[in-house]
Amino acid sequence: MNPEELKKARNKLKKNKIQNNCEKPTFNMMTEEDLSQFQKEQLDINIEEWLDLIPEYTFKTEYYPLPMELGKLFMEAYETRQKTGKITEEIKEKLKEYANSIQKVIERVKEDSDGVFIKSSSRSAKDSVIYETKFKDNYRTNFLKLENNENNKLISLLITGMALLKTKDAYQMLQLWTQSERIYQDMIVATKFPDRFNEHFAVRKWQDMEVDMEFRAFVYDGHLTAISQYNHFCYFPRLLEMKEKLQNLMVTFWKENLRDKLHKKFPEYVVDFCIVGENYDKVMVIELNPFKYTTDSALFSWEKERKSILTNPEQFEFRLVKSVRSGSKSLISSSWRKVMDEVDEELKNKK
Ligand SMILES: Nc1ncnc2c1ncn2[C@@H]1O[C@H](COP(=O)(O)OP(=O)(O)O)[C@@H](O)[C@H]1O
Ligand SMILES: [Mg+2]
Repeated sequence: MNPEELKKARNKLKKNKIQNNCEKPTFNMMTEEDLSQFQKEQLDINIEEWLDLIPEYTFKTEYYPLPMELGKLFMEAYETRQKTGKITEEIKEKLKEYANSIQKVIERVKEDSDGVFIKSSSRSAKDSVIYETKFKDNYRTNFLKLENNENNKLISLLITGMALLKTKDAYQMLQLWTQSERIYQDMIVATKFPDRFNEHFAVRKWQDMEVDMEFRAFVYDGHLTAISQYNHFCYFPRLLEMKEKLQNLMVTFWKENLRDKLHKKFPEYVVDFCIVGENYDKVMVIELNPFKYTTDSALFSWEKERKSILTNPEQFEFRLVKSVRSGSKSLISSSWRKVMDEVDEELKNKK
């Protein structure tokens, strides 16, 4: 597949899915060579590569090996579910065996909190939260707290999805992972190159964060060139009021704490921040991604703005959504839209 086709395939994917809003290409559409190159670039910036350079600025993390057999088991389970709607007892038994040891890591990392965040070396299973039985009820509860409009429906979906990323039960987590297309895709790539296979569960301390307080920053050749609101389907009015403060906070944080520590190993990268604390005054790193079109450019465009903004040290911009984005609903994945529509229908009938 040539880069143009790849871009098109990727854009199609991107437009389809809100929960995958920072997405990677569909791997079955790539040539072996592209895939190998892509995998190498991803491995170079997996969490194992950057965490130790900046441990004090991100969430406490403990790794647990994700053996190749388990990677293959995730693939088998995902495919079985696609065909039959469920997984076999045999698969469940195997998952339970792995769960026992992972549970110990969860207990250690969670300390006195009530859960942790777990991802694989490259990505999380954030697309699988929709399969949590609580999703719809939680969405309804979250939505009813807000004024009834489409922007708030999308915000409620984000709030619901984010909260469900918190886990304390390893077996439940593994079962959810067998429903994640992201994990499935990543395991296809990872197991394709057995000599490079080096996957882990990254068990991370849970950090409460608000859905509007995530940002994506672009770093090129030692310069922070751009920052975007991360959840870019939604309009968050307070961000516009806080813009200057947030910008200063992130730029200063990056200059003082990340720039020099990351520069040698990563001359260019895309870094996600969250801003936490009662007064929104603390920045933390969520993760690093490749500085490439395979990383979602949020409110920027790799195609149109790579030269003029993303790689241009003279042209810093902090971009936010300035008003409600009409038609955002059509950009979310059908499974999320279904929940939204079902709850709309319920509420209408209640009136
Ligand atoms: N330690 C954490 N505590 C709470 N939420 C988290 C934590 N780490 C990540 N998240 C949430 O999960 C999302 C996905 O995590 P991330 O590490 O970026 O994985 P991915 O590669 O799948 O994007 C983040 O955008 C953030 O909303
Ligand atoms: Mg991410």
